[in-house]
Amino acid sequence: MVAKAKIIGTGSYLPQRVLSNRDLEQMVETSDEWIVSRTGMKERRLARADEFTSHMGTAAAIAAIADAGLQPDQIDFILVATITPDYYFPSTACLIQQAIGAKRAGGIDIQAACTGYIYALSIAKAFVETGIYKNILVVAAEKLSSITDYKDRSTCVLFGDGASACVVSSEGKGLSIESVRLGADGEQAESIILPAGGSRQPASQETVANGQHYIKMAGNEVFKHAVRRMESACKECLDSIGVSEKEISWLIPHQANMRIIDAIAKRFEHLPSDRIFKTVQKYGNTSASSVGIALDELLRNYAIGNGEQILLTAFGSGFTWGAAVLKSEKA
Ligand code: ACO
Repeated sequence: MVAKAKIIGTGSYLPQRVLSNRDLEQMVETSDEWIVSRTGMKERRLARADEFTSHMGTAAAIAAIADAGLQPDQIDFILVATITPDYYFPSTACLIQQAIGAKRAGGIDIQAACTGYIYALSIAKAFVETGIYKNILVVAAEKLSSITDYKDRSTCVLFGDGASACVVSSEGKGLSIESVRLGADGEQAESIILPAGGSRQPASQETVANGQHYIKMAGNEVFKHAVRRMESACKECLDSIGVSEKEISWLIPHQANMRIIDAIAKRFEHLPSDRIFKTVQKYGNTSASSVGIALDELLRNYAIGNGEQILLTAFGSGFTWGAAVLKSEKA
């Protein structure tokens, strides 16, 4: 019998440059008060001009592999979740594979927007538990500043750059991936969209002039769906393994907006609010990277006892959504 897939190491990377609400006040008509009250965000990080998604992903990957006690040539496969790849092709997975020296590994990019980390965990779990591969490197990395319109106040205050990674393996101790539930609804494809640059609207002078290479989002619509979908994904995921809300030690929701997180928290009445892990105030929405950055930070700052369970959930463009239950296996 093949062992259950486990996260045996995590890592993350945040660029040094801080973009504060005060900085944004100089760029668009907004205020610290508006941003804090509507989103809970105080600051976010921005990558340097010469720092790309693959660089941030590589830094997070190196940290995760070291945390797992492995060498890069022990990695069998690399999954990179991103909506801001360095290029359309080659994949960012190939760039990271070369940068870390994972000579034996294959790799692909996957695209599930803000749900990318959870989608990637599910694929890693499947590879490991079918015995196809032993060690999978999951990376989620985003340079959202490269597709953010810093003249559009309704989106530019929300997004930040950063990366997270983990190693999913059949061997070693860590967080076993007990269950993953994923969902999608293409009916809502246009609610969060990068309209141009693909085969429907190839890049042209017109698309550039019209700002169609930037994120467009119907914020209100997304907000409602995000709360509902993350709640139902969490409940389905818990039900699938017969775990009750009371048995969860921590909830890590996608860090898109403090009000969305608070709305989900209300639906988990047994979970104290200090058990809902938040980084949105300091990093903003880092899309695919967000849940992984928070997980890495949680593990670095809190002791997770044997048997404790962590619930992850995310929601993003597509729409896509998902949830995963992780269980600490230290013994
Ligand atoms: N500063 C000041 N005023 C602003 C700003 C700003 N930065 N942005 C918008 N406003 C104004 C609007 O113009 C509007 O003014 P009006 O009433 O005169 O028209 C007013 O504030 C209210 O705007 P709303 O959009 O209704 O504000 P809302 O409370 O919905 O908050 C927000 C907007 C923060 C975007 C929220 O809807 C949200 O968080 N949505 C979900 C985002 C999300 O979850 N994304 C996840 C996926 S992202 C991905 O996949 C890449």
